[in-house]
Amino acid sequence: MNSKFELIYEGKAKKIFAHEDSDKVIIEFKDDATAFNAIKKAKFEGKGELNCLISSKIFEFLIKNNIPTHYLERKNDNLMIAQKIRIIPLEIVLRNIAYGSLCKQTPVKPGSVLESPLIDIYLKNDNLNDPLLTKDRINLLKIIDDKDLEFICKMTLRINKLLKTFFYNINIELVDFKLEFGYNSNGQIILGDEISPDNCRLWDLNQKNGTIVSLDKDRFRNDLGGFIEAYSEINKRINNFI
Ligand code: TMP
Ligand code: ASP
Repeated sequence: MNSKFELIYEGKAKKIFAHEDSDKVIIEFKDDATAFNAIKKAKFEGKGELNCLISSKIFEFLIKNNIPTHYLERKNDNLMIAQKIRIIPLEIVLRNIAYGSLCKQTPVKPGSVLESPLIDIYLKNDNLNDPLLTKDRINLLKIIDDKDLEFICKMTLRINKLLKTFFYNINIELVDFKLEFGYNSNGQIILGDEISPDNCRLWDLNQKNGTIVSLDKDRFRNDLGGFIEAYSEINKRINNFI
């Protein structure tokens, strides 16, 4: 990225640069992949561009369906222009099907369809390894009040309904995903971060015998290979559909 823009923040998968308009930022999607709080790291050429493309298309779809997001436009390659937000340090995970940490921490069997979507809220804090929170702990830490928390949970459920249908249309099961929200300069809560195979579990429904084929970051987490191929497949199916 052109060095005339000031780097505001660098995360594991993205860099945020200042924009000439102080209400906007430039987001650069990196080729880096990390897992297990960056214990595992790798670089996949083209990942940044694919996640930027996929996220942009999904944000455009959500905006059309009246979900407020930080997305403004996609620039070339791996750059996105977004509204500047004050990020709320919570990771909102919604699960439709049990997998991942839910099955490590509870006796729920991997692959079981949950009766209703489960929302798990984690503290966004790498030093503490993003611990699972309770409502009382959120109050204790004074991160957000009850009204805003309820608003975020309701919005997450609405986003889930929209995304489940979006992915069914391209023969993908939306197993779970993680969202982040923030306040824009008007004090409005909007969806931030990204929506890509990095923070969603996406299973291919084109399998005859019920085998689980992950088209998401589990390919890296679980050493399954075919990482870029999976991300490209998601991008291809989205482009063919819209
Ligand atoms: P989990 O089963 O490991 O808790 O993950 C649930 C979902 O959240 C899965 O789609 C991956 C996503 N996720 C992130 O985006 N960032 C994270 O740091 C973690 C732990 C999970
Ligand atoms: N996002 C986390 C990391 O970067 C964990 C994960 O996605 O599995 O390490």
